[in-house]
Amino acid sequence: LDNGLARTPQMGWNDWNSFGCNVNDGLIRQTADVMVSSGMAAAGYTYVNIDDCWSTKNRNSNGDLVPDPQKFPNGIKALADYVHSKGLKLGIYSSAGTTTCAGYPASLGNERRDAALWASWGIDYLKYDNCGDHQGRNGQQRYTAMRDALAATGRPIVYSLCNWGQESVWTWGMPVGNSWRNTGDIAANWNSITGILDQQVGLDAYSGPGGWNDPDMLEVGVGGVTGTEGRAHFSLWSLLNAPLIAGNDIRTMSADTRTILTNTEVIAVNQDWGGRQGHKISDNGNLEVWRKPMSNGSVAVVLLNRGTSTSTVSTTASALGLGSASSYSVRDLWAHTTSSSSGTISASVPGHGAAMYVVTGGGIVTPPPTGAIKGVGSGR
Ligand code: DGJ
Repeated sequence: LDNGLARTPQMGWNDWNSFGCNVNDGLIRQTADVMVSSGMAAAGYTYVNIDDCWSTKNRNSNGDLVPDPQKFPNGIKALADYVHSKGLKLGIYSSAGTTTCAGYPASLGNERRDAALWASWGIDYLKYDNCGDHQGRNGQQRYTAMRDALAATGRPIVYSLCNWGQESVWTWGMPVGNSWRNTGDIAANWNSITGILDQQVGLDAYSGPGGWNDPDMLEVGVGGVTGTEGRAHFSLWSLLNAPLIAGNDIRTMSADTRTILTNTEVIAVNQDWGGRQGHKISDNGNLEVWRKPMSNGSVAVVLLNRGTSTSTVSTTASALGLGSASSYSVRDLWAHTTSSSSGTISASVPGHGAAMYVVTGGGIVTPPPTGAIKGVGSGR
């Protein structure tokens, strides 16, 4: 969406994955505090996002949405002021139907009214779900109506489409939103993470500055996701130019989780645009190689081991699309070390783990396929 926002994938936090409907003013304020004190804000995380269940069960007599007075006794505008005072931005949630997934009033047919209200509160981000009655309108129509309502407010508001990949949203998402969910909900386990990863194949042609494929929010540090799995998940989502929206309770996160989420070398790959998001170039049983061209002529690579025991995963500079060189520089983005290679890029990778490198040398000889960036055009 050509609204000047999300020129690189948006970064932030959302309450849903860890708290479900238990969102409130204190949680959001404490999270904003920790976003700063943990170093996440310095690493690029900006948006603190409220998900479902923030309103009362009915609109007021004017027809406006009302923050639940138990959960948000100060209202949302005061909360936005607080979040802004921390140098951060505040997000809210609604649905392109008559109700949200949890049964609260949503915005279909009330787009202008609701967008104006959020803008008056100082909202900076909208996640727009797909629950409730659709009144016979297709997704493109329903999501475009809210795009236009947000634009009419004159306030910069990142617009995150959440229609779970229905109606091939990637084929029409670019002129409508800043990102589009392309699968059902992620869960805090390895099978869910890899299942969503499999659904990313082939979608790389549709994303770019202003409009990103969204494989859903991060489960790093949530539930049973181990540190090894979390590093793999974060490596892959970064390579995919996914929005990096942390889903853990950052107030109580372990040092290991914080180190993963604030790895600025990995984040730098996410925030770079070399013309094409990350994509899979090979798989061999449980062992996969994913690459992404970087804007400086390097190539980022993730070596993934989906199996349960340690295995060697290998590729070559040539397979990564680099030209020939007598030696390549290989930067390990998790060990933070640099080595050189004559052309083989290889790692011993633990089960459910990944290694991530930036390989430099020879220049990129496999550019993005000409004309394959299908989102280019109106609305960019
Ligand atoms: C479905 C979405 O996909 C989730 O991310 C979350 O927003 C829930 N709805 C909230 O009800």
